[in-house]
Amino acid sequence: MAQFTRPTILMCPPDFYGIHYEINPWMSRSRQSDDALARTQWHDLNRLLASLGTDIRLMPPFDGLPDLVFTANAGLVWRSVVFLPGFRHPARQGETPLDDAWFRAQAFETRACPERWNFEGAGDALFCGETLFGGYMIRSDAGALQWLGREIGCRVIPLQLVDDRYYHLDTCFCPLSPTQAIYYPEAFDDYGRRALVESVPTLIPVVGAEAARFACNAVVLENDVVLNTGCPELAVALEHLGYRAHATDLGEFIKAGGSAKCLTLRLDGEDAARWP
Ligand code: ARG
Repeated sequence: MAQFTRPTILMCPPDFYGIHYEINPWMSRSRQSDDALARTQWHDLNRLLASLGTDIRLMPPFDGLPDLVFTANAGLVWRSVVFLPGFRHPARQGETPLDDAWFRAQAFETRACPERWNFEGAGDALFCGETLFGGYMIRSDAGALQWLGREIGCRVIPLQLVDDRYYHLDTCFCPLSPTQAIYYPEAFDDYGRRALVESVPTLIPVVGAEAARFACNAVVLENDVVLNTGCPELAVALEHLGYRAHATDLGEFIKAGGSAKCLTLRLDGEDAARWP
């Protein structure tokens, strides 16, 4: 079983990153990313996370799989088990065998998503306390979330995602601690909003303009929150709660529909998770 002595994050260098297909409304092949700038932004994020005390592990990049940089989708980590993704879009399906091999080489046990369902890893499954919140409809299926609940033996709250721009749960919901989270209310239906309000004691809403800057796609490291630039209102709300907000420009990755959180995967468990 993999052992960690400090917060440990998986990232994948952007060597083969680019906008090569369009599978979400942010992506347009006519709006290419700038290679050099993407590398700089990725390295700045990497250095910022390292300066906050994290150990960063790297997945080798792979030519032809530009979205492999978004390691949040490499799986859902629970203790020494990784639930592997079954991607909705064929363009990303080639990532799963690489994820599987990497985790196994690191002494994780991997479990495949049953074939009849799609599931996109930590992008659509986030623990807040002992509860697993799951996003479904756009990329992951509700059946896959129920499968996770059975495997883990935890309560699952499935949340339907209703806005194509917020196609993964981690683009519109971010647990900060077992009792606190950030969310973008408009990305959910009434039922989902109610479920969130009833089950998370402190919920910080973000405004539309900051949701579109991927305010909810933040990396939480105890009292430090790392996110894209252009989210001043959220930064103030976080500071009121005792968090320090660190903004770093990730504009080249927004072009693919991802930001700080998507570019990372906590291997030792998120701070907000109280794993059953
Ligand atoms: N282009 C990628 C996709 O559409 C972005 C993935 C972002 N990852 C995330 N966890 N939200 O699949």
